[in-house]
Amino acid sequence: MAATSRHSNPISLVLLCSTLISLVTSHEFLTDGTVIELDESSFDSAIATFDRILVDFYAPWCGHCKRLSPELDSAAPALAALKEPVVIAKLNADKYRKLASKYEIDGFPMLKLFLHGVPVDYTGPRKAELLTNHIKKIASPNVTLLESDASIKDFVKGAGSDLPLFIGFGLEEIALAKLGGQYKKTAWFGVAKDFSEETMILYDFDKFPALVSLYPKYNERNVFYGPFKEAFLEDFIKQNLLPLTVPIRYETLKLLRDDKRKIILVIVEDETEGKSVNLVKILRSAATANRDFVFGFIGVKQWADFAETFNAAKGLDLPKMLVWDGNEEYYLVEGLERLEEEDQASQVSRFLEGYREGKTIKMKAKGPTDSMKLVIGVALVLVIVVIVSVVVAIIYLAGETGDGTQIRHARPENESGYKPISDSSEGTEEGYQGGDKED
Ligand SMILES: *[C@@H]1O[C@H](CO)[C@@H](O)[C@H](O)[C@H]1NC(C)=O
Repeated sequence: MAATSRHSNPISLVLLCSTLISLVTSHEFLTDGTVIELDESSFDSAIATFDRILVDFYAPWCGHCKRLSPELDSAAPALAALKEPVVIAKLNADKYRKLASKYEIDGFPMLKLFLHGVPVDYTGPRKAELLTNHIKKIASPNVTLLESDASIKDFVKGAGSDLPLFIGFGLEEIALAKLGGQYKKTAWFGVAKDFSEETMILYDFDKFPALVSLYPKYNERNVFYGPFKEAFLEDFIKQNLLPLTVPIRYETLKLLRDDKRKIILVIVEDETEGKSVNLVKILRSAATANRDFVFGFIGVKQWADFAETFNAAKGLDLPKMLVWDGNEEYYLVEGLERLEEEDQASQVSRFLEGYREGKTIKMKAKGPTDSMKLVIGVALVLVIVVIVSVVVAIIYLAGETGDGTQIRHARPENESGYKPISDSSEGTEEGYQGGDKED
């Protein structure tokens, strides 16, 4: 910089600048974990002041906004308390329309996360706790540099248990840079330069470089010693985005289907029963030895509709074992459609052998097997409803004009030419948005 080179002490200039900035900050914005109400005059200054700021563009009359507001109030303190804090602010976008149109706000409420001034749409869950976790993930670096044992510990603790972690020990950051960006929403990535032998024991690796995967929620851990070429790294990452045996749930189903491997699916009566827990242990060891498959299990009691898709129900022959393509097709293995109580480990081995030898019976799954089809189903119903109402309206209007009365016009558009904004779709209990993509 030319300006600083003329100064004898550029550092003091930088210090002066940052003091000025912090003065402005402390004067204008409270950073006590409350949601900051912005207006036209403070908006740009807030975006410039905070490295991480989530802005709720709302309208006072919108119902979804009113429901979102307390969630943001309760998320704000936790996000403000982070080592790298995220501030929550809101802007009445119905009043400050210039700002609203600058940021292309076309529905209320709309959330945008500004990272160092750059906005990204936030479309994740809107319940306080889930939103907090989500924002934490999005606001984190693609790959976190871990300088010491203590920072490794902090990193693992801060990541929580919902997503898997990948830590490269003695690995260059660059080796994970691309994959860390690509899988940012589904996993945490870090590289550790300095670590002790205790850490090696803790994470169970005996040489480095090594890439360790952890999935705290499922108590999973795995180590990869190379080769550290992108394709191999990606295979390892993909295989460890899911636990060895995956409980089928709405959120794991999506991951299972994104995974290109065939799914070995075991349907039991009740996942919590002792014999089911034992069977899952057996599946785990089978999964370790057969990484080309992904193993899932489900209890009829836990999700009857899903089990029904594969003709499995309470009182029928359970546990049922099959190979599912993640879509409409699945395969039974001759003579092993049902697992007997005795020696299930060898039945599982014979099942896999049988499948590999092609001793299979091809089946078709019944009805919608995935959320996508449910969504399409709902959309179809909506389309029919719309068509029916249009027909009814036409008949009604035709009747009215027939009587010589005037056709009533639809309400005129907002005079300012501003696109009328409707309440945008809101999440259900868990904060999922019907039909919207969930990150
Ligand atoms: C992080 O990853 C994203 C891709 O998901 C990429 O666009 C971005 O540039 C990466 N950030 C850094 C600092 O490398």
